Amino acid sequence: MALLKAAVIGSACAALARMAAAAQPGAARPVPAPMRDLVWGRLNFLHTTDTHGWHGGHLQESQYSADWGDYVSFAAHMRARADEDGVDLLLVDTGDRVEGNGLYDASSPKGKYYYDIYKQQNVDIICTGNHELYVASTADGEHQHTVPNFKQNYVASNLDYIDPKSGERMPMAQRYRKFQTKNQKLDVVAFGFLFDFTGNANNTVVQPVRETVRETWFQDAIREETDVFVVIGHVGVQMPEFKTIFRAIRKQNPLTPILFFGGHVHIRDATSYDSRSFAVASGRYFETIGWMSVDGELERTALSEDAGFSFHRRYIDNNLLGLHYHTGLNASTFPTEHGRSVSAMITKARGELDLDYAFGCAPKTLWMSRAPYPGDDSIYSWLEKEVLPDVAVNPSRGDVPRLVILNTGGIRFDIFKGAFTRDTTFIVSPFLSVLTHIPDVPYGMARKVIKLLNSAGKIMESGPMDNRFMAIPEQLAIHESIIYETPESDDHLDASQQKPLADGAGKRPRLTEGYTTRDDIGNDGDDAVHQPVNFYVVPNCIQAEVDFPSDGEPETVDLVFLDFITPWVLMALRLVGGEYSDKDVQVYVEGTFTDLMAGWIEKNWPKHC
Ligand SMILES: *[C@@H]1O[C@H](CO)[C@@H](O)[C@H](O)[C@H]1NC(C)=O
Ligand SMILES: *[C@@H]1O[C@H](CO)[C@@H](O)[C@H](O)[C@H]1NC(C)=O
Repeated sequence: MALLKAAVIGSACAALARMAAAAQPGAARPVPAPMRDLVWGRLNFLHTTDTHGWHGGHLQESQYSADWGDYVSFAAHMRARADEDGVDLLLVDTGDRVEGNGLYDASSPKGKYYYDIYKQQNVDIICTGNHELYVASTADGEHQHTVPNFKQNYVASNLDYIDPKSGERMPMAQRYRKFQTKNQKLDVVAFGFLFDFTGNANNTVVQPVRETVRETWFQDAIREETDVFVVIGHVGVQMPEFKTIFRAIRKQNPLTPILFFGGHVHIRDATSYDSRSFAVASGRYFETIGWMSVDGELERTALSEDAGFSFHRRYIDNNLLGLHYHTGLNASTFPTEHGRSVSAMITKARGELDLDYAFGCAPKTLWMSRAPYPGDDSIYSWLEKEVLPDVAVNPSRGDVPRLVILNTGGIRFDIFKGAFTRDTTFIVSPFLSVLTHIPDVPYGMARKVIKLLNSAGKIMESGPMDNRFMAIPEQLAIHESIIYETPESDDHLDASQQKPLADGAGKRPRLTEGYTTRDDIGNDGDDAVHQPVNFYVVPNCIQAEVDFPSDGEPETVDLVFLDFITPWVLMALRLVGGEYSDKDVQVYVEGTFTDLMAGWIEKNWPKHC
């Protein structure tokens, strides 16, 4: 059996900054960084998760500006290498492919271009995320397009779909997948899970994981003869759902390797549940391509207590220079014909959707969590001080004083200095939420709401009403204290672990800001060595006071808020003695908050940069 020589941690500078063909026209030029090598094993994986429509890449961020076409080229080269070495490579995607970028959201119907672009990648195991299920038509689209596009490969272990015509309930896709790898003929049993999600539209049914593992089909599947179990899921690797699945499989299979691929919490993360199981989560927004490899005697005939496995993980920045580096290719040899055609499909779709249309020019960068809130560089302070007072206006209510509350999770991305485009609107605020209100709430009551919303998960400790669901998903991870501390020293450059190559002049290359991940395995997971990025915690909700009297307090106010947080607001009011219900909640401004924000920008920021 051809075992690859695994250089444990190599390093080299990913070439010099040279013209890199491919990526989208106008995308930021990729920048080089000191690199850590991929460690190949006998079974290797590339993993994407929570791409949220970013298949055109990050046009304003050089670290992540490769596109889905580049990933198609990358995977083709990596598969060719696996074939050459007699090992295997599988591609995995763990859901939330939609919502969050104009490439998916701007078309009517949504996803008009996305389905055909996405399916160009040959993904071996794929499952569903919660964002495929919030809106009934999105779940229909998933069932009509992506499920058949990946017929053999789509797995839905705990998800059913209800046919809109017949009303018939059926599995969204096959419950599990058993197959053999191409080169080594290793048997794989693969599952595809979604966390215990309850916010789905009524045309799907999510079965809680603890019930799924008791199903007869599952109990039979874990008794299949296999060399390895692969569990993919739209589930954070530290979440209880994965541990439930791990325990169920392990109970029946004390020695078999079990590999987990997770997502949902938008972070890079890895852990191991025991010495024969390993779990990786690969970030968000197509910033990251995850890598996992397993080495050792994988055949079940060779299983014994003493035979161990080695696992490796790497978080690959979606940076064209890095993709060149890992394949040993360059700008002219890297793009495949297929990859180029996918990049061209994306360019065409972006053109037809007019995604580069500029509403205005952002005078500076506004951060969600890289700058302190409140503060001049905080996107939330900008909303609170400038945008909300201007857009939260209802002529029939006149200048009635109002408290305007926005949940921070309603904003999904930073605004970069420069053109604020149609694409940016979907990136920053992909939701269809509208401003609603309850009129004439006694101020003594209304003023207490924000405090309750911002208490850490205390209105209702857990379940679907957890306060944290109003904040950005990245913060779920902080509460579980996984990562994202700001490293206090430059131990991410520990010389015993990595040696960034000096440039020609003998100096360390200047590091760009980016991921400096710490996970349960260590702090050497990122493929590119970066300067750490600050992370400041933000509250669940922010609040603007509008048209308040210059002195004294108003007797009553209109309580204005995004409709998404209605259940929390009603709960908070109840706790302070306000008996309000859904019937008291009325639209305050017509049109989505996203449109209001774009309108404000068009009016207030210079048109051209
Ligand atoms: C789902 O909800 C819609 C709208 O509320 C309703 O028309 C439809 O009958 C419901 N479908 C099912 C399967 O319950
Ligand atoms: C890329 O590599 C090929 C083959 O090694 C070489 O002939 C070519 O000059 C290189 N191109 C660039 C742009 O560096």
